[in-house]
Amino acid sequence: MRRIAVCPGSFDPVTYGHLDIIERAAKLFDKVIILVSFNPKKRNTTAFTIEERMELILRVTGHLENVCVDCHDGLLAEYLERTGACAIVKGLRAVSDFEYEFQMALANKKLYPNAETVFLTTSSENMYLSSSVVKEIAVLGGDISGFVPAEILPDIVRRLGE
Ligand code: PNS
Repeated sequence: MRRIAVCPGSFDPVTYGHLDIIERAAKLFDKVIILVSFNPKKRNTTAFTIEERMELILRVTGHLENVCVDCHDGLLAEYLERTGACAIVKGLRAVSDFEYEFQMALANKKLYPNAETVFLTTSSENMYLSSSVVKEIAVLGGDISGFVPAEILPDIVRRLGE
C-alpha cells in the first residue's frame, strides 16, 4: 500500500523552514502532497495568489521525485478522504505553535479518523522562521536570502517591494 502524506499550509511564500519539513517528509512517505490550503484567518490578506504559491513550491521541490503540489478550498479532512492520505505532516517550531496545532490535529482526527497528524520538529536554524517574518523583513527592504531558496528570491523581493 502506498503511504500518502499531505503537508497543508498557506505557504505565503514557501520558506527554507517549509522545505526542510517537506524534504524530511519525502523520506518517510511514498508520496507527499504539498497542499496550498485556505486558512480562513488569512483569506484576502495573502501576498501571493494560490497559483503563484503553487508555482513557487513547484520550483523549489523539483528535486524531490515523490512530492507534488495541489490546492484545496475546503476542509482538509475532505481532501484526505478523497486522496486516501494516511497522514498530515506539520512542522512544529516553538511551544507557541503547539496549542493551535494540537487543536487542529484533534479536530482533523475527529473529522477523518483514518489519518494521523505527524509533527516534525523544525531544525534549530529554522526555529524563528515563518512566512510572516520573511514578508515583514522583505517589505522593510531587509535581506531575506537566508530564509528563502535562491531560485525564488527575486520573485519574492519584487512582489514585497512593490
Ligand atoms: O500555514 P497555516 O496558515 O498555518 O496553515 C493552516 C491551514 C491552512 C493548514 C489550516 O487553516 C487548514 O487546515 N485549513 C483548511 C480548512 C480546514 O480544514 N480547517 C479545519 C482545520 S481543523
